[in-house]
Amino acid sequence: MLRRVDKAMRGLSTRWFGAVLIMTFGLPGCARSPATKPPPPPVPFKTVMTVKQLMNALVVPTSDVVFDVAGEAPQSNDGWLTVARNAMSLAESGNLLMLPGRTPDAFAPDSKEWTQQSLALIEAAMLAVTAADAKNVNKMSEAGDAIYAVCESCHRRFMPHPR
Ligand code: HEC
Repeated sequence: MLRRVDKAMRGLSTRWFGAVLIMTFGLPGCARSPATKPPPPPVPFKTVMTVKQLMNALVVPTSDVVFDVAGEAPQSNDGWLTVARNAMSLAESGNLLMLPGRTPDAFAPDSKEWTQQSLALIEAAMLAVTAADAKNVNKMSEAGDAIYAVCESCHRRFMPHPR
């Protein structure tokens, strides 16, 4: 007798468990209820630099530090750390390039391509971060080549007067 009640209870609780699962996650295949969290409000960007200023203030000096490793490798851990930090700043500048308000129509009639170029800069600069972390001069110069290729391809496409 006791065993039967026990069994029945277990069956009940399994069914309950199933019901709770469905209530929590919905039936598989059903659309999520619209009552889920609303999207967060957009972040109010306040861009400061023009693209040209961003090039001169951040992209050029940080990439120079990366390019310089091919000529003279850092001699200390601190030196490599400086290179890694510059490579990270260069990578982050790819995000700055993509910020709304940064890309005037003159540069980015096709903003999809602008986004691609900016993402490519991030990817190439992250190769340099990895190489600097590994203190690997060969990988560093490969990363430098990859970065330079992105500078060139974006300029070819978007610079008003290609030089
Ligand atoms: C996403 C596109 C993009 C990428 C990537 C990019 N640039 Fe530029 N860069 C531009 C544009 C657009 C201009 C023209 C800005 C203007 O004239 O107002 C420019 C201008 C410049 C200038 C000229 C600045 C001046 O004062 O006239 C230099 C130097 C420069 N970039 C260096 C670099 C280097 C080095 C890299 C790679 C590490 C790079 N850029 C990557 C878009 C890019």
